[in-house]
Amino acid sequence: MTAASTTLEIEPLSPVLGARLHGLDLSRPIPAATQAAMRQAFARYGVLCIPSARATPDMDVEDQIRFASVFGKVDGEGNGQLRFAEGEKRPKRGIMFVSNLRENGELVGVLPDGEMHFHSDGAHRDVPYRGTTLYAIKIPSRGGETKFANLTAAYEALSPAMKTRVEGLSGRFVYDVRATLRDQTNEGDEGLSSSVHPLVRRHSDTGKPALYLSRLMTRNIVGLERADSDRLLGELFDHCEQPRFVYAHTWTLGDLLLWDNRCLNHARNDFPAQEERHLRRVTVSDPG
Ligand code: OGA
Ligand code: MN
Repeated sequence: MTAASTTLEIEPLSPVLGARLHGLDLSRPIPAATQAAMRQAFARYGVLCIPSARATPDMDVEDQIRFASVFGKVDGEGNGQLRFAEGEKRPKRGIMFVSNLRENGELVGVLPDGEMHFHSDGAHRDVPYRGTTLYAIKIPSRGGETKFANLTAAYEALSPAMKTRVEGLSGRFVYDVRATLRDQTNEGDEGLSSSVHPLVRRHSDTGKPALYLSRLMTRNIVGLERADSDRLLGELFDHCEQPRFVYAHTWTLGDLLLWDNRCLNHARNDFPAQEERHLRRVTVSDPG
């Protein structure tokens, strides 16, 4: 295959974050100069949307992996199982479906239902995912928008006193795969994985400070009394989720989205349970 020569056109999705990229052909190797422009756009906009070139969503998983690999190490790559059947029940780690479809009565993917609170993928791990890609194969007629919050802008908008207050603090992040809303996480469950991260993190590419905390996953602030921790977290969650920091993506069939987990949170609006929603998810991590 020869690399396609591409002219990348960048169209901002909102004043606060996100851009749509036009002119990419993901069915071929991506030229180095285009890859550099894609990485630059990712650092600048946080969310990239590649609209479908066709009316039916038919991009295969290799093309999604090729796209994802521009931005980091594709999770699950190199374990000899890169190709999995679309309907396979247990795809390898790193590649999965976000889906409410069932086969033989069993869910084919994860995160099947309804509303999800803001979170950052992998925050419960010591090394969280750098980015997440989602490709829309089936979408409901209404609802199910994915919302993104710009945590660099949210940090910048804090008062000087609040910046000083959060600077030295760390949060404990817990993830319960069954929980999509904060109160559904059973903190007493010893089996839940958790990690501790600073509440302010410097982005590994841009160097900019961003808040790192989320309603779904940040259970408490290390070293604070629970009541103080709850009060401060509540204030910070509300701050980050203000409309001025948020873009809500209404999916079009065949959209491929990439988001940066280092400086954005994401959440999902509710959608009708009886309608189908099926997206393919590939994550990327820091190399090495
Ligand atoms: C995810 C996720 C949101 C959505 O895949 O990590 O949070 O809109 N998805 O399905
Ligand atoms: Mn997520």
